[in-house]
Amino acid sequence: MENSAVDVLICPVCGLEFMDTLPGENALKCIDGHSFDIARQGYVNLLTGHGTKFAQDTATMVAARDDFLDAGHYGALAEALAEVVGTVLAAGAPGDHSRPLILDAGTGTGYYLNRILATLVDDSPGGSTIDSVGLDISKFALRRASRRNPDTANLVWDLWQPLPVEAARADVVLVIFAPRNAAEFARVLKPRGRLVVVTPRPGHLAQIAQTTGMLGIQEEKEAGLVAGMAGHFQLQESRDVTITLNLSRGDVRNVALMGPAGHHLDPQELAEKVGELPPTTPASAEFLISIFAPIIS
Ligand SMILES: C[S@@+](CC[C@H](N)C(=O)[O-])C[C@H]1O[C@@H](n2cnc3c(N)ncnc32)[C@H](O)[C@@H]1O
Ligand SMILES: [Zn+2]
Repeated sequence: MENSAVDVLICPVCGLEFMDTLPGENALKCIDGHSFDIARQGYVNLLTGHGTKFAQDTATMVAARDDFLDAGHYGALAEALAEVVGTVLAAGAPGDHSRPLILDAGTGTGYYLNRILATLVDDSPGGSTIDSVGLDISKFALRRASRRNPDTANLVWDLWQPLPVEAARADVVLVIFAPRNAAEFARVLKPRGRLVVVTPRPGHLAQIAQTTGMLGIQEEKEAGLVAGMAGHFQLQESRDVTITLNLSRGDVRNVALMGPAGHHLDPQELAEKVGELPPTTPASAEFLISIFAPIIS
């Protein structure tokens, strides 16, 4: 893993730092000798031996999300996020000359992180660089994320465990439809860093909620989101992003499979429901981007 983001990682076994890996090496080792395999695709499983009670997203769910996002339906959300992250990085602390770091918690297939880095990183010689860490519990997702973002330190990790990252190192923690461990996000952020959370607004894809099994999934209210961060973060700003979509039957199928309902949908039943839809279905994607500042105690 030739990535300077490795400098901010800590060994989940002993809490010590990792050694640099040489090109071609297939393990990440801490200075106390704990060793974690680097997968062929480039991600590292730091969860080894920890076990987890969370059902990871399956290969089918991950493929559906990849197809849907790659089709560009949520491109406007990616653009809005790049703008938000760019603004946060530009406002970094005076005198902080460390390379900016984005931590993408629940990076999934790495789509949004990829779009953000593509917008903000200047590849020309001497251009600005950004370090990045992608955490996800699904190795199926990380296989894709590693291919998409080869310069990111992509790690299999459970966001409900203490994060394998040093304190006060991240400029931005991104949480896009993923679990929110407020205490740990606050610990890893720099004092001037920001937590950027994306959640669906009430009414998100309401037009296809029945078909996709999203009906009955509790809608998240902004007040609940803010309450969940209490003690660690205060809300600084929020933005609505609304995207008008025209979804093919294949798109609707992907939406159904890529969300939490994908864990228990019956493929036959889904195919029947989708088959009854017209060739295209209008729908409105309703997102909320919330920007939180850590509370410095
Ligand atoms: C709805 S997906 C969003 C993925 C990505 N942020 C995106 O928007 O494309 C939620 C992601 O959170 C991951 N996830 C769920 N529970 C997790 C946990 N406890 N620790 C780490 N990742 C988790 C899932 O594997 C999945 O990739
Ligand atoms: Zn160690």
